[in-house]
Amino acid sequence: MGLRDLNIDLTREHVALWDSAKKFMREVWRPAAIKLDRLANPEDVYAEGSILWEVFRKTNELGYHKMMFPQEVGGMDADALSMVLFWELAGWAAPDLGASWGLNGIPMIWALMSPDPEMQDLVKRFCADTTGTMTGCWAITEPDHGSDALRFEGEYSTMPELANQVRAVKQGDVYVINGQKSSWVSNGSLAKYAALWLSIDPSRGNEGGGIAVIPLDLPGITRGKALDKIGQRALNQAEIFFDEVRIPAKAMVAADPVTYKMFSNLQLGLANGLMGVLFVGCAQAALEESLAYAKQRVQGGRPIFEHQNIRLKLFDMFVSVEAARSLARRSFVYNHSLYKQNQPMAVHYAMASKILSTETAFRVASEGVQIFGGYGLSKEYLIEKIFRDARASLIEDGTNETLALDGAERLGKGKLTLDVKEGTEQPGAAQTAAVTFEDLKPVLRPTGVHMGVMRADPDKCISCGLCLLNCPFKCWEMDENDHPKMKEEYACFSCFNCMVACPVDAISIVETYHVEEGFFGYGYPRVKMPLEPKDANGRPAVWTEVEKTIFERRSVRNFKDDPVPEALIRRVLEAGRFAPSAGNKQPWKFVVVTDKEFIRELEEACYGVVNMMHAAYHSDAMVMGLVQMLGQPTPVGVFDPRVQGGVRAVARKDLPVYLNAPVVIFLATNERAVDPQLQAGICGQNMNLAAQALGLGFCWSGFGALVERIPELKAKLGIEPPWRITTSIALGYPKFKQSGIVPREFRPVTWFRPGVRAPEVED
Ligand SMILES: Cc1cc2nc3c(=O)[nH]c(=O)nc-3n(C[C@H](O)[C@H](O)[C@H](O)COP(=O)(O)OP(=O)(O)OC[C@H]3O[C@@H](n4cnc5c(N)ncnc54)[C@H](O)[C@@H]3O)c2cc1C
Ligand SMILES: Cc1cc2nc3c(=O)[nH]c(=O)nc-3n(C[C@H](O)[C@H](O)[C@H](O)COP(=O)(O)O)c2cc1C
Ligand code: SF4
Ligand code: SF4
Repeated sequence: MGLRDLNIDLTREHVALWDSAKKFMREVWRPAAIKLDRLANPEDVYAEGSILWEVFRKTNELGYHKMMFPQEVGGMDADALSMVLFWELAGWAAPDLGASWGLNGIPMIWALMSPDPEMQDLVKRFCADTTGTMTGCWAITEPDHGSDALRFEGEYSTMPELANQVRAVKQGDVYVINGQKSSWVSNGSLAKYAALWLSIDPSRGNEGGGIAVIPLDLPGITRGKALDKIGQRALNQAEIFFDEVRIPAKAMVAADPVTYKMFSNLQLGLANGLMGVLFVGCAQAALEESLAYAKQRVQGGRPIFEHQNIRLKLFDMFVSVEAARSLARRSFVYNHSLYKQNQPMAVHYAMASKILSTETAFRVASEGVQIFGGYGLSKEYLIEKIFRDARASLIEDGTNETLALDGAERLGKGKLTLDVKEGTEQPGAAQTAAVTFEDLKPVLRPTGVHMGVMRADPDKCISCGLCLLNCPFKCWEMDENDHPKMKEEYACFSCFNCMVACPVDAISIVETYHVEEGFFGYGYPRVKMPLEPKDANGRPAVWTEVEKTIFERRSVRNFKDDPVPEALIRRVLEAGRFAPSAGNKQPWKFVVVTDKEFIRELEEACYGVVNMMHAAYHSDAMVMGLVQMLGQPTPVGVFDPRVQGGVRAVARKDLPVYLNAPVVIFLATNERAVDPQLQAGICGQNMNLAAQALGLGFCWSGFGALVERIPELKAKLGIEPPWRITTSIALGYPKFKQSGIVPREFRPVTWFRPGVRAPEVED
């Protein structure tokens, strides 16, 4: 009978992993951690020849370091339960070594988030490393910012005095970093790489932060003295100082507030989840040591296990460990599933797991010391080390009190109801669809794509710069003569808005966007101006006012600050209300936002989603998570290179989500209607034409509709199921002329005329 593992879903592979990892931990980790713990000088822990390096090497040789990385970068892509088992055993053997060795992977997790090839290469090198020398750390706390550094929710997240003192200032293509991290940075003494949390805009408090992944041998970086502490002595800490340290801008993997908050929350979810699992293992070790000792220590003429008070204590310890294990495993598996789907983690569950596990480990270890009597205080017995290690865990990665306060903030946000997908056992834990990257490669990495090419005639150009402003994807830049030229890296999708903005007709088309072959291939269609108008008898005619409005309408992306009078906004809405709808159901409703602060909040949130999409799309390793997030069947149109051009432009902030318009209108549709999206289109286009006729500028903003994916903001807008945000609209007065007629691709028209049996195709 005795102790057992209660998970009923362990496979043969899990059991094999458990057996081999336990043997390794028992024979390699635990004895090494005991040796390291006894070193009087903490600097000896990481000195050359230290057993620490042997442990790191042997563990990497077995490939455990790549468990959580995707196969595309050479990782194992292990399932969540395998990771849980491994980390429980690490905690069982030596939580201090577990934390130290585990931190090596932290900078790599954030490098993986970057689409930059050098960052991806770094992760590949890490996964391939069998020497265990690619060490890492998470540098976040500072001398004056301990608990404060970990607050990313509620009022604490915006207080300027809580912002990191380590500051990055952008200078062209580099950031210059100055400041100091606390003496508590684990592996601070030995790490080669850091995931560095810092401040970019301190006026915004913790919200204005950034995350850089950097090597720690850059000029200007120095380390402090290794810290001497009571427990977890195999886990070494030291300050890191930054003096005018220059890093390339691409090393800042989170450079804007939304990405920063999203990644920080992900880090909190991961760190707390792993701490939860690690210290369940530590608690288990305390229980096992105590049980074994109680069976062999004789007092009162029998093993102390025969005394009721010791039995009650042991059973109480056992109950606590199993309860903590249950939460730690469940919350880790749940959050890992969300992570794989690129969804935000339920951070408060991870915090609950960390708090319960570490408090259980400390209490169980303390009771264990009591069972050992005086020997429990002696270094001769492992329980003494476990007790000290567990004590440190109540402060490590955030004091349990601070985590509880932060967790409560998240708990207060109400219940998140997720749509349960078909065949899903728990919300957010949908199985990865059977479709693979290779299956979707033609969609995700399309071939035969030719971007448009435009030319500005220097003889006509008056250098007004309007074409630069009116290009949605910012394809143009000025040359040395102040004439526009297309950037080296650009993504022209042939909208021709640069042409309509040019006051002197200097811009011409060299080649239009086209896709020769592959999944999105459609040849090289001709673009034409509108056909000349003719009357019913085929004689030349003039366009009606409505036709003129239709042809001259262009998306407006540059607005004046001036507010739009409500009377005019209403006329635009009225044009929508009178659109045709199936069954005259009018399955739409409008939410109008003119409050600038709220527009900013909505925009920041959308940036976060777009940034995540951008990072995921460019990483072979992560793009399947994006596919999973978009749901089934995968809306392949999202991967059209033109749409991804937009994603890139938004992610780079070349294309503001709501285009700095003074009015944003959300168009929500009732999901219980027939073809709600089609009807939204009809309704919205009525509004678009009315706006054009009123002299207003109008632009559809599909990116702005990503609010649909952010439950808190959707609720704030008052939109609840069955209503869905289908699109958003930016409205305002145009800053300069952005309307005018442009050529468009001509689609073949098929005619069936009387008396002619075969279709006649006109192209
Ligand atoms: C073993 C270990 C490993 C660590 N590893 C790392 C690491 O890898 N990287 C890193 O950057 N840091 C690391 N740390 C630092 C750790 O994150 C901090 O120690 C922790 O966040 C607490 O900060 P502090 O020590 O400055 O305490 P303080 O923030 O000064 O807290 C002091 C006391 O005040 C309470 N308190 C603080 N704020 C509030 C509040 N707003 N409301 C109510 N009570 C409050 C706390 O609960 C605590 O009891 C580690 C610490 C330990 C012990
Ligand atoms: C459903 C829909 C969503 C769109 N989303 C955006 C957007 O998020 N941002 C943007 O700048 N333009 C957006 N557009 C505008 C298109 O890019 C634009 O209509 C297209 O390039 C043609 O240019 P024109 O409108 O100037 O004729 C969207 C258009 C539609 C119909
Ligand atoms: S055609 Fe459109 S995308 Fe291309 S350069 Fe002109 S404005 Fe930019
Ligand atoms: S809009 Fe025309 S005139 Fe102005 S910079 Fe561009 S090409 Fe030159």
